[in-house]
Amino acid sequence: MLALGIESSCDDTAAAVVSGDRRILSNVVMGQTELHAAFGGVVPEIAARAHAEKVDLAVEAALAEAGVALRDLDLIAATAGPGLIGGVLAGTMCAKGIAAATGTPVVAVNHLAGHALTPRLTDGIPFPYMVLLVSGGHCQFLRVDGPRSFHRLGGTIDDAPGEAFDKVARLLGLLQPGGPSVEREAARGTASIPLPRPLLDRPGLDLSFSGLKTAVLRARDEALVEGALPRHARADLCASFQAAVAEVLAEKTRRALSAHPVAHLAVAGGVAANAALRAALEGVAAQAGAAFLAPPLPLCTDNAAMIAWAGIEARRAGAAPDPLDFPARPRWPLDGAARPMLGSGKRGAKA
Ligand code: KG4
Ligand code: ZN
Repeated sequence: MLALGIESSCDDTAAAVVSGDRRILSNVVMGQTELHAAFGGVVPEIAARAHAEKVDLAVEAALAEAGVALRDLDLIAATAGPGLIGGVLAGTMCAKGIAAATGTPVVAVNHLAGHALTPRLTDGIPFPYMVLLVSGGHCQFLRVDGPRSFHRLGGTIDDAPGEAFDKVARLLGLLQPGGPSVEREAARGTASIPLPRPLLDRPGLDLSFSGLKTAVLRARDEALVEGALPRHARADLCASFQAAVAEVLAEKTRRALSAHPVAHLAVAGGVAANAALRAALEGVAAQAGAAFLAPPLPLCTDNAAMIAWAGIEARRAGAAPDPLDFPARPRWPLDGAARPMLGSGKRGAKA
């Protein structure tokens, strides 16, 4: 089976060709970081226009790199949500156009399912397994029981951790996206500034990151010298923040694995790129006797290979192709049975 994947739910226009035997023939990602840099965050309207301009180019490049023609495809898989609606529309319309012109079946893929199924693309692990999905828009523990069977065990009640990294970077005058900037700066400092460990005192698997960000703001103001933040203080704040995030996520993961023992723990989403977090989770998995999987970085952040793969998995599990009028969905919870999320997080509450 040969699938074309299309991803356009946030600020990466991506297309990829993946085969049923887990080979990634191409994985094209066209980022938009420069377009949004001046605004300190992703501007939905700018993102939508850029997706509309680039999505066909990304598809062309992915097909060329894979040495594949449209007629060779067995499946087109497109992110149909959750995400910024203008971008999702650009990607799904491209997929529908190709499907209409070629007669190739199309599958509407949940972006989160793409992240959650990535360990099966990279390592071929069996169900069930646990995924900690940590990105700019999402934070949840999922038990993955099948290609379309996800149980949400807990998650953030406000911000997603990537969102917190991005906001902390903004507070400290670092470049966006904040995760890599904060991690780089953290390497120069020590985790010497006391910051809270939100919700660790409460049972359950829910998490919260917005208070932590506010605590960083307060600590920053206390560290100012004549209105300026000394370089070492900035590095220490980054290291302290990163340590708090890693500690909270690791402890909640320990609890998740103890309540739901599985053979494999995987981490997914952009924040999975963080080395301190990976190391902490690796330790927790080892203690719980679970194998730890962290996909290579280009497959942790948004990409279309994971979307193509999720489409392949869905078709293999017997899912019918979607009709050409399938909707683009700004919100699309993976686990419809889970209780609705609390909190007012702009992006964190998305799923
Ligand atoms: O999965 P992703 O590419 O997009 C979605 O949000 O769906 O994740 C992007 C997020 C951003 O918030 C970015 O700051 C964060 O992942 N991120 C990191 C690192 N690299 C990217 N956070 C912490 N440490 C990193 N090294
Ligand atoms: Zn994502």
